[in-house]
Amino acid sequence: MQPHAVQRATENNLPMSSPSSFPVGGFRYPRPFKIRRLGHFGINVQDAALSLRFYRETFGFRLSDPLDFAARVPVDMQGKVGATTGYFLRHGSDHHSFVLFPQAVMNAVYPPPPGVPPATINQVTWQVGSLEEVVRGHEWFSGRGLKVHRAGRDTPGSNWHFYPLDRAGVANELYYGIEQIGWDGYSKPAAMHDKRYMAPPQLPHRAEAAEVEAGMARGVGITEGLRDTEALPQVHDVGGVLLGRPFKVTRVGPVRLFVDDMQQALAFYRDDLGLAVTEEVVWQGERCHFLRTGTEHHSVALYPAALRERLGLRPGTPLLSFGLEVGDHSQLCRARGFLQERGVALRYLPQELTPGMGHNLLALDPDGYALQVYSGMEQVGWDGKPRPAHLRPAITNDHWPQLLEPQPDTFAGEPFLGPLA
Ligand SMILES: [Fe+2]
Repeated sequence: MQPHAVQRATENNLPMSSPSSFPVGGFRYPRPFKIRRLGHFGINVQDAALSLRFYRETFGFRLSDPLDFAARVPVDMQGKVGATTGYFLRHGSDHHSFVLFPQAVMNAVYPPPPGVPPATINQVTWQVGSLEEVVRGHEWFSGRGLKVHRAGRDTPGSNWHFYPLDRAGVANELYYGIEQIGWDGYSKPAAMHDKRYMAPPQLPHRAEAAEVEAGMARGVGITEGLRDTEALPQVHDVGGVLLGRPFKVTRVGPVRLFVDDMQQALAFYRDDLGLAVTEEVVWQGERCHFLRTGTEHHSVALYPAALRERLGLRPGTPLLSFGLEVGDHSQLCRARGFLQERGVALRYLPQELTPGMGHNLLALDPDGYALQVYSGMEQVGWDGKPRPAHLRPAITNDHWPQLLEPQPDTFAGEPFLGPLA
């Protein structure tokens, strides 16, 4: 029996024996960090260049930076793994909100243990509030004997991080301070990084702005980074702004996972990461869990793996779907037509399996991974209670109304900052 399955959880979901006295920003928490939001997500793909084109054109992601893994491929595998470049993509000002890495190269650089299938999810990444939370969080995970894949700092992306693995081996990442790309659209030049961090830094550390000033003093040019442009003609009117497609991806997540062992998954996402369970749903005899970090109904959803085949989704990956939120319901309706016109395969989940979410669809990418496209999520307040299921409007996927009655929490989630493009 798994230890976490038999230990009674406290209010904070940690076993009774765990200390509960880590100060985080002046509050006492049972862990030395508090996850603020889902930051980004990554998948391993068969043809990264093909996937890059799909995500740039179909969903409007911009390329922030490529990363060539050629030098990291073991000597005996060099020349045998295909194209070695992965891609960092963004929908807003975060340097990356989505990453694509070549599957064969990842298998060669990070070979799975014998008998374990290669990882298809590259990372599920969470933002914490400070560099100190990253450093102390790394100590906490390592000190409890939990697997940490690596730690240090992302280049490109600049975020300080460490990668704890969930009990099924899916790489999660906790980070602080991802690079922001502003109005001029340039990523930070690689030469701004004068030091490679392969371990957590000594605290306190100089601020990123001080690093940039030092880089400029060394003669690094501000526009030496990469600047991507819109992939499609900008002919679609989105709220009065011309974009390359009739919608804008304004937020990423939630992540939906199929899990072989629900108690092991809860031991990580609920007990180790500290996410709160918003709701449980039993569908066709299978119990699914929906967990949140902020006010959105869920940031990660866990489904028994037995449902994968019943839902007709891609085998060979624990990923059910990755969420892409668009700006509003009008954009969502037009996104559905745009995806159909472009020949993107669409699927729909039973409404019972997406509590907290209104109209939504699954769009399949070139590898058969599912992107869940939706607009807005139910917001959960101080008492932690979701809306009762019977008060949720019924959805018929044969017909999506163009106009809906607003709910009290419509447009109440995290707004998109800045212009749409
Ligand atoms: Fe990351």
